[in-house]
Amino acid sequence: MAKRGPTYHCQACGAVYHRWQGKCDACGTWSSLVEDAATAPVPGGGRASGNSRVRGRVFALETLKGDTQDAPRITSGIGELDRVTGGGFVPGSVLLIGGDPGIGKSTLLMQACAALALAGQRVVYVSGEESTGQVRLRAERMGLAEAPVDLAAETNVEDIVATLSEGRRPALVVIDSIQTMWSGEVESAPGTVTQVRGSAQALIRYAKTSGVCLILVGHVTKDGQIAGPRVVEHMVDAVLSFEGEGAHSFRILRGQKNRFGPTDEIGVFEMTGKGLSEVTNPSALFLAGRDQPAPGAAVFAGIEGTRPVLVEIQALVAPTALGTPRRAVVGWENSRLAMVLAVLETHGGLRLGQHDVYLNVAGGLRVNEPAADIAVAAALVSSLTGAILPQEAVYFGEVALSGSVRPVSVTAARLREAAKLGFEAAMMPAGGNDHGDGGGLNLRRFGHVTELVADIAARAPRRDVKSRGPKGDAED
Ligand code: TYD
Ligand code: MG
Repeated sequence: MAKRGPTYHCQACGAVYHRWQGKCDACGTWSSLVEDAATAPVPGGGRASGNSRVRGRVFALETLKGDTQDAPRITSGIGELDRVTGGGFVPGSVLLIGGDPGIGKSTLLMQACAALALAGQRVVYVSGEESTGQVRLRAERMGLAEAPVDLAAETNVEDIVATLSEGRRPALVVIDSIQTMWSGEVESAPGTVTQVRGSAQALIRYAKTSGVCLILVGHVTKDGQIAGPRVVEHMVDAVLSFEGEGAHSFRILRGQKNRFGPTDEIGVFEMTGKGLSEVTNPSALFLAGRDQPAPGAAVFAGIEGTRPVLVEIQALVAPTALGTPRRAVVGWENSRLAMVLAVLETHGGLRLGQHDVYLNVAGGLRVNEPAADIAVAAALVSSLTGAILPQEAVYFGEVALSGSVRPVSVTAARLREAAKLGFEAAMMPAGGNDHGDGGGLNLRRFGHVTELVADIAARAPRRDVKSRGPKGDAED
């Protein structure tokens, strides 16, 4: 039973408390509880108890067997976006797009809206953050001012739903952003979790009953959580995140949850002066800024979803000045790096206890594949020994705790992509045989990390081998 009296909501995760406390037990956030007097939602429902507007309605039950109209998906024509949604938007579905402020969510959605509107669909873009003038200005800058998109700057969900229910039913409605919306049915300040949840519920109800595809924009907090709307995440059909590094111009759209499509696909875009442009060949982009040959860089032939992506892995192994050496990773898992380091120490004979280790996946891509183990190991050994890795080679393969190099999936596609981009050799696992014709590459196979370490150490400059080699002490 919901208790009367003041309740407190965590603004980060939505957990409910009956007493104020400094830290939310559910998500660990400090000072995030806000009093929300007498508006505690009934579990499973959205409205406060005692709300006289709630009236039961008798509905007909159905069976599993029956009509399943497979409504056609609404394709935006932006290939990278359609790929991530699983082949277009599904009518009646709700999609949440999260991302840091300024990453380009509004830009991407305006482009999708414009493309659909130009294709003759009715599209409504509701901005709660910018005035219609500002949205128009942006559209003009992107050369989309002619697109017949219906535009509004509104924040009240009842008004929005009432307006949307008039006239021709839209194919797509964009709400930018869910954090700015408020519902008159929820007695809580705009921006609070209760309001976000209440507004989302009203909008989702509208989408489900009308068959309109709804896109909600959600801003993300520093730690990668969709602020407040974490409570929205489980109410929607798909969650996409739009990521990118401030310093780089490209952006990655990644599926996190999708009831109607894959979750491992990525869409790659580049932010230009005229909005986002699709990057159909991400490998070329990620490798574009490669420096002069230097130790510590290895090209990894990876797979993102169904697509091969080549990316440079950079490592820096430097003598430490600290008691506990640093391990810093960008774009890969910390625990995975710890494992590769342990394997290199145990089986490869490297001494890394007195070295700081920095690892970076170039360009801001996040790699999740274990197949990157070998590329990481190669970059680490290369940095430690000062040996420059062959520029024309790609690396991939999983490392087991025993030090053996294990075959990985979709080898043929990795090799083809590498060949397409002008690489001539692949450093890959022994065993496994789905590599087709090898793409014409020179295949160099490793069964154990010791072979890889020996191969790289053999390329090291002689002086360096002595002072910084795998078994040497680091004095410099
Ligand atoms: P925006 O879509 O407003 O981000 P979000 O909605 O995620 O907060 O994007 C804003 C950024 O994009 C801003 O820094 C300017 C940049 N931008 C361009 O570089 N080119 C463009 O054509 C547009 C429209 C924006
Ligand atoms: Mg925006």
